[in-house]
Amino acid sequence: MRQPLVAGNWKMNGSSGSVRELIDGILSGLETKAEVLVFPPYLYVQQVRDLLQGSLVKFGVQNASDKLSGAYTGEVSPLMAKDLGCEYVLIGHSERRSIYGETDADVAAKFCALVDNGLGPVLCIGETLQEREAGTTMSVVAEQLNTVLRTAGPERLANFVIAYEPVWAIGTGLTATPGQAQEVHAYIRELLAENDQSMADRTRILYGGSMKADNAAELMAQADVDGGLIGGASLVAADFKVICHAAG
Ligand code: 13P
Repeated sequence: MRQPLVAGNWKMNGSSGSVRELIDGILSGLETKAEVLVFPPYLYVQQVRDLLQGSLVKFGVQNASDKLSGAYTGEVSPLMAKDLGCEYVLIGHSERRSIYGETDADVAAKFCALVDNGLGPVLCIGETLQEREAGTTMSVVAEQLNTVLRTAGPERLANFVIAYEPVWAIGTGLTATPGQAQEVHAYIRELLAENDQSMADRTRILYGGSMKADNAAELMAQADVDGGLIGGASLVAADFKVICHAAG
């Protein structure tokens, strides 16, 4: 049985004032059996950690370097994320891929660095609108995932999460239908099963892309949708809590 996971990706939003308000709002009356996680911007991680102390809500960061230390100006090491108490790190978000040019190979290197340092990668994959319209959704997703699986090798695949985020649904208000989401999630699980059935059974696959308070329940009711990766709606405490509640 996979425990549902709901993760809020705050992206580059917030201030020290709004972070306090948002965390206070999330913690007040949060009712769910799901694992709940937030990804604040780096500069607010320590504040978020302090505010979350004593709660079950976890935190992580939105990206990390594949290097551990040294002359890499502007980068953040997995060791630093670990040092501050992060459990999970988001990698391969479509905004990292499209705006900052991260390749499947870059993402795979980050995956390995995270696992080797005791962190759980949340690996984002997903197709663009053009790719969906060209009928290549499954091959795009397979290539993104298989590059990581191949590079990591079986011993690094004990504890990670996949987030399927169709790029055309991110921040657009266009959500995949529950059927569209389930179709790709089931395929991703098949790809995992080709490597290892027990990994396929235990690995959580989140849906992301305009998941909101009013569509979360039907998306998460799909057999292979194990939770959500939430952007915009994770910045509104009341909406985020509804989504957490819908997860279980
Ligand atoms: P939205 O929920 O704003 O569409 O963003 C999804 C996302 O990119 C989460 O990582």
